Amino acid sequence: MNEMRPPQHGPDFRSDNVGAVAPEIIEALARANRDTATGYGGDTWSLELQKRFGELFEAKVKVYPVATGTAANALAMAAITPSHGAMFCQERAHILTSEVNAVGFFSGGGMLVPVAGPHGKVDPAALEEAIAAQGKGLMHRSQPASLNIVQATDLGAVYAVDEIRALAATAKRHGLKIHMDGARFANAIARLGCKPADITSRAGVDVLSFGMTKNGGLLCDAIVVFDEAAAPAIQWHVRRAGHVWSKARFAAAQLLAYVEDDLWLRNAGRANAMAARFDAGLKTIPGASLWAPIEANEIFLKAPAHVIDGLERDGVRFFRRAADMARFVCRFDATEAEVDAVLASLRRNLSNG
Ligand SMILES: Cc1ncc(COP(=O)(O)O)c(C=O)c1O
Repeated sequence: MNEMRPPQHGPDFRSDNVGAVAPEIIEALARANRDTATGYGGDTWSLELQKRFGELFEAKVKVYPVATGTAANALAMAAITPSHGAMFCQERAHILTSEVNAVGFFSGGGMLVPVAGPHGKVDPAALEEAIAAQGKGLMHRSQPASLNIVQATDLGAVYAVDEIRALAATAKRHGLKIHMDGARFANAIARLGCKPADITSRAGVDVLSFGMTKNGGLLCDAIVVFDEAAAPAIQWHVRRAGHVWSKARFAAAQLLAYVEDDLWLRNAGRANAMAARFDAGLKTIPGASLWAPIEANEIFLKAPAHVIDGLERDGVRFFRRAADMARFVCRFDATEAEVDAVLASLRRNLSNG
């Protein structure tokens, strides 16, 4: 692990993307950088990856490394949705708000249908209503095909195991395939302390976008398929989109290093611990409130605009979602000193109000 030092330019909570790469992953790349290896996933690292993820998820899985979370989401959803399909997702879901409708593009016409729910979670009753309103069997309507859920959610909340089971049961009752956007899957598992299978294969999830980049990875996430029958054409989707690297061993080497000795959970645990420290500090500061409970590594803070201005003036880096709303994301390499500096700034600016 890198020596944890606060960034030179002040506390940086803009995103978990702004963090470093875990040294273990860089070292794994250096180890893989020898000799020759078969291209396009025929190498020993890629074959080992299939086996290792099968153990990790306690299921027969197919793993497809891809370059980004967006690619994972788009290709996974495209593989479980026909071109005339309706894809249900929470109204704040990343696939709806931030990916230029890549899921619609790669599915050849699939339509996103937003569903309400608290803290970025899909509400089961709202899902039932949305499916009913979609007009199953009607010639004029996109047909209910798939459900996307985000774990941890886009507002930093974490679905409990039973919540995922219940949603999956509803979705399955209506014949929907289920995709989980796990850009922050590690943070959710670290929070829940459950087995990866408990919220995926055993809960009814068909396909997972397994995030790595945000949690200490370099340039790779992965699609994990639990039910091959749900996504029979996925390998062609992935290949056609250009996500089968000729030097695939370097993608697999990253993913193998990421799960070795629980590196992924240690990194996520650190990021979550920084968010928990934030949470504990906020409880002692009157005047600041939260949009969603802090359950993973993200904080959505509500405070008067002049207070958020003050944070900016103090050199705190974060993402300003609105005049009175700031998002902070804890990196795996964030430090306690960074968190404490934000809390001190917040305290000062609130008392200046
Ligand atoms: C919930 C969620 N899903 C998917 C993504 C997409 O990841 P990438 O930026 O690697 O395409 C992000 C990135 O911010 C995200 O927050």
